[in-house]
Formats: sequence, C-alpha cells, structure tokens
Amino acid sequence: MKLSRWVIALSGLWLSTGLSALQAAEVNVYSARQQELIKPLLDKFTAETGVKVNLITGKPDELLTRIKQEGRNSPADVLLSTDVGRLYRAKELSLVQPVQSEILNKQIPAQYRDPANLWFGLTMRARPILYVPGKIDPKELSTIENLADAKWRGRICIRSSDNVYNQSMVSGLIATLGKEATAKWASDFAKNFAQPPKGGDRDQIKAAAAGVCDIAIANTYYLAAMLEDPKDKSAASAVKVFWPNQQDRGAHVNISGAAVLKHAPNKAQAQQLIEYMVSAQAQQWYAEVNHEYPVVAGVATSEILKSFGSFKADTLSLDQLGALNQQALMLMDKAGWK
Ligand SMILES: [Fe+2]
Repeated sequence: MKLSRWVIALSGLWLSTGLSALQAAEVNVYSARQQELIKPLLDKFTAETGVKVNLITGKPDELLTRIKQEGRNSPADVLLSTDVGRLYRAKELSLVQPVQSEILNKQIPAQYRDPANLWFGLTMRARPILYVPGKIDPKELSTIENLADAKWRGRICIRSSDNVYNQSMVSGLIATLGKEATAKWASDFAKNFAQPPKGGDRDQIKAAAAGVCDIAIANTYYLAAMLEDPKDKSAASAVKVFWPNQQDRGAHVNISGAAVLKHAPNKAQAQQLIEYMVSAQAQQWYAEVNHEYPVVAGVATSEILKSFGSFKADTLSLDQLGALNQQALMLMDKAGWK
C-alpha cells in the first residue's frame, strides 16, 4: 500500500518535472530571413522535437544592433542571416559563440562554415550572369572578370554597391585576384553600366527585359521567383542564366546561415535547431521554398533551379567574403560604382 502510494507520488513528480521540462524547451530565433520563408520549417522542427520556437524577424543590421543593445540579457539564441557578410559582422562584434557539432561539421562543407564554428551556412545562393538571348551569344561570355571588357560598354545592369551581395561578390574577386587587380576591374566594370545602379536584383532583370541592358547580375532565386509570378514571368523569361568562371575557380556563391548568440539562454536547443536545418528533409524544403541550393551534398534542388543547369561553384572559404567586406566597399566606392 505504502509502496504503491510512493510509486504514484514519484510518477506524479516525474510527470510534472517532465512536463515543465517540455514547457521550458524553447528557442528564440532572430531572423533576417522573412517569416514566410522560415516559419513553416520552424513549425516542423517544433512538431518533431517539442521545442517551441519564438520567431522575431527584422532587418539584418537592426537585429545586430538589437542583440548588441540587449547584451547579456538578450533572449536571442539563434541568428538567421541571408548573407555571409552579416554573419561575419556578428562574429566581429563578438555577438556569437562557437558550436561544436559533429553533425554540422559532417553535413556542411568547410567553405560554407566559419573556421572556428562561429556560423554555419544553411543554403547556398548563386549570383550568375543573366543575358538576353538574341542580343548576346553566350559564346561571348566567360568570366565575371571579362565583364570589365570595353565590349560591354553601356550593356550591364547591376544594383548599387551598398548591397551586401555585390560587396560579397567583389570580396570574392579581391580574395582571388588581389586588391589592385580588383580595383582596376571595378572601375572598368562600372564604366559598362547601362544606367546608374538602382533598385534590387529583380529590377535589373526587368531592365534587361525592357531593353535597357543586355546583361543583368542577380541571384538565381530572384529569377526563379519571377518565373513563378504571373506578373513577372514574361520579364524573367527574357533572360537566360550563364554560369561564369566554369573553366577556372567556379561561379561566385554566397550562403544564408545561422549562428548561436553569445548569451543564448537555450544553447542546446539552438544547436538542435541548426542541426535540424541540415537534415536532408529540411534542406530540401528550405532550399526549395526560396529556390536556393542545399549546402548538404546529394539533396535535390527545385525544378526551376534544375532548368538553370548545373554549375561548378567557387570553393573559396566564405569567411573571406566577410573579412574583405570593408576593402570591397571602399574599392567599389573609388571605382564610381554608386
Ligand atoms: Fe535576397
């Protein structure tokens, strides 16, 4: 009698602590990635693990400022960013902490994660050359470097140098060609612009379709999204993808990724979430919903991405893109790249 009462009392205790542990299991995500592009995946994570996800979305630099201001009291566990430049900035501001994870080290190629495990790439994004067939024979195209050639005078559309994707692309050139050669490239490249840079990547594609330029530089997921959007489909159909630098280092790529914040109150759950995001199933969903490329080898891409053809990606360590960001910015400014 006494024993069974003990058993009941003990199991009750176990149940209540078990429940409160479940209730306490949560993770706070600060995301520069839009809610609709991430929330369904976070919901899947919650359904599979029981860990509740609290999501705050915002502009990347505002999130970094907020985390900095919150300091030790910051509830933020995971930072999600759509560019390696911002993850590197979080690292430079000492806002993040390393994560030692065999899963992450195994699943993510070394060039797509921080050498000291301070951030991890979750999807890969590519920034190829988009050209207007009929105006350009793809045989004329070769490398990003070649776009500085005088034959492209007044024929290229690209957004402004304050855009981090362009900064990362130029950082990649500095890492490969050196600062001097890249400075020369940038000033010749800027002379080839069809118009002063304005708008986003989608606007460059629209300008090419409207006959303003023959070449647009844009990330593939913008082109893919336009192809799926009835109002943008005809503009997007006016350009074709050319993969540059296939005979040498491969095309410039960037990542969206995650980092665990220094004062994360739920570090274990933060790690669990990032590990979940590199599972094959999550990779496929995550890459497909925004038409990005999985970072994990062997995961299928979307049909639209397949239609752009396969390509060789530059294997440069993306940490370099962050490290050279300031140099790139100064160099673009000097080149007259508005
Ligand atoms: Fe973007």
